[in-house]
Amino acid sequence: MTTKTLSSAALDVLTTPDPREKAAKTRAYAHAWRNGEIPETGHTDLPDRPARPENPELLHPAEMPKRAKAGSRKSKVALLHALAHIELNAIDLAWDVMARKFDLGGYALPKAFYDDWIKVADDEAKHHMMLEERLNDLGATYGDLPAHDGLWEASEQTANDFAARLAIVPMVLEARGLDVTPNMIKIMKAQDDHKTAEILQIIHDDEITHVRAGTVWFEGWCDYHGKDVEDTWQDLVRTYFRGPLKRPFNHPSREEAGMIRDWYEPLADEE
Ligand SMILES: [Fe+2]
Ligand SMILES: [Fe+2]
Repeated sequence: MTTKTLSSAALDVLTTPDPREKAAKTRAYAHAWRNGEIPETGHTDLPDRPARPENPELLHPAEMPKRAKAGSRKSKVALLHALAHIELNAIDLAWDVMARKFDLGGYALPKAFYDDWIKVADDEAKHHMMLEERLNDLGATYGDLPAHDGLWEASEQTANDFAARLAIVPMVLEARGLDVTPNMIKIMKAQDDHKTAEILQIIHDDEITHVRAGTVWFEGWCDYHGKDVEDTWQDLVRTYFRGPLKRPFNHPSREEAGMIRDWYEPLADEE
């Protein structure tokens, strides 16, 4: 598996339907990039939607089956399956932002941008694989349950706007992950499932760096264009994200990721 450009690597991953293969290719390309074996970023047209396996069946969020009883094996499998699905989408989202031909208005992305997003893609592949392995421990596999198809929407809606993509995907959606994961870890520990708790902790810690990458490059874009970070981010979230941001927030993890409370508090639901 060799490629000369990051864009062709992105295209290869995005058009690979099998989740294991998608994750394995991502890790191999990330390794190659770090070793300097992919010398150029290149240019290529990307598909509107990434290739997906036949299973899981993708449903509208409203059609998703009801949650099983908390604490049951079934509910744990459902949670891990939902997370594995999010991570699979996250792999594609990371490649998409690296290779999409956004109109940057003259802002030139340096190598450090690609270094950051290669790490994100690599982490998401690792996360998907860890969750799949844990599902296997529980006698399940990714694809067993339906999954909801709302995730790629954020990508499609922001396909023509680099700043909006960063404002929504890392700085709203992945930041939301920081808010909800600690409680999941607590629940797993209370059930004496330390293995799942450990996986979720790794994911949480890695995700801080993803939100930070989003924040850093969003600020870079704003600086270049002489725009105020807070106002620009809030405007984009109001335009591209439906409804208020959900509380409670994980302020310490958000702060570590460079998210400032004054940015997101005004967009939150009522306390
Ligand atoms: Fe992840
Ligand atoms: Fe992430």
